[in-house]
Amino acid sequence: MSSVANLALRYQLHQIRGLERQRHAVQQRFASKIKLADAEYVNFASNDYLCLAQHPQVTAAAHDAIERYGVGATASAMVSGYSELHQAFEQRFAEFMQYDQALLFNSGFNANISMISVLADRNTIIFADKYNHASLIDGAILSRAQHQRYRHNDIAHLRDLLTRSGVKNKIILTDSVFSMQGDKAALPELSQLAEQHQALLVVDDAHGIGMLGEDGRGSVSEQGLNQQQVPIVICPLGKAFGSMGCVVVGPKAMINALTQFARGYLYSTALPPMLVAASLAGLSVLQQETWRREKLQHLICYFRQQALQSGLTLLPSDTAIQSLLVPSIEKLLLIQQCLQTNGLFVAAIRPPTIPQGTQRLRISLTCEHTEQQIDKLLALISKLL
Ligand SMILES: Cc1ncc(COP(=O)(O)O)c(C=O)c1O
Repeated sequence: MSSVANLALRYQLHQIRGLERQRHAVQQRFASKIKLADAEYVNFASNDYLCLAQHPQVTAAAHDAIERYGVGATASAMVSGYSELHQAFEQRFAEFMQYDQALLFNSGFNANISMISVLADRNTIIFADKYNHASLIDGAILSRAQHQRYRHNDIAHLRDLLTRSGVKNKIILTDSVFSMQGDKAALPELSQLAEQHQALLVVDDAHGIGMLGEDGRGSVSEQGLNQQQVPIVICPLGKAFGSMGCVVVGPKAMINALTQFARGYLYSTALPPMLVAASLAGLSVLQQETWRREKLQHLICYFRQQALQSGLTLLPSDTAIQSLLVPSIEKLLLIQQCLQTNGLFVAAIRPPTIPQGTQRLRISLTCEHTEQQIDKLLALISKLL
């Protein structure tokens, strides 16, 4: 069969299994709401947890940068795409995280797939949590290292794999907050194992940075650790920062090596200065406006309490990502549709994004949601499940 026919068949099967996903063309966003086809919805499917994407200080900073630089970076960082804004942000971010040095990539996916190939080679074994984000999985595959996946959050399984591995160069790769259910990795235990087995611990803090820890410094700070114990942290800026790009922080020598050797950094147009300016402003806002994290934390507790009272069983999570398993894909899509008819926009997550049989509603909370919106959502889900 030709590759075109093969692909057509694959697509057909995907459709028949109810796995085809649709994009929705958003007309406008405002705080916790979106407008689609002239109708307004409360958006429970956004990662803009602290609602910074439309914060006036953030958008003003982006506008100023457009005046100075235009919309694009016009070249890769090593050519002429690196600006004073990039430099200032990297310095400020490293100080904020209390790490030696920072490097700004143009996305989290790009950072992960290009960084891992610098850290690992054929003589490396990567130990990765089974529920890691796709970019960490692909990064590990592309690096050509041996790739061993331990059961989700199963420290004993990881210890066993580490003990049995003879290879010298070892990397432990994990999300800090798992993106499809919101639970957290046990970073102190992972860092202890890393130390015992001389492995490098690399943590992707996409859903922790800005929200967790002192001052919003993320999961490493929240779990009482620092650069000594978690040498490399990946901090995508498309979630709590409401922006785009990804900062990798770590020891000077490693960041210098990434700057010189990470192909996705060297051979991709640098992040537009307007987005760097937005992230720089976002960093100030999230440090000053602590009410955003406090309110979000309150809403997370409120959501879980109300769900419990309604008899709903959520997956374990004390973060802004709250998930609820639904018995079948058909039912999941039906619930999603009914919620939408009632003005609520929620993500329906299906395989292959998550393991077979674990289809779920993924509800993300932001600091601009209200208790009333949560009440309405939970009341409807209880009726529909
Ligand atoms: C854990 C994790 N890492 C990396 C990424 C990719 O980041 P970006 O959207 O900046 O490519 C995501 C985004 O979904 C994520 O959830």
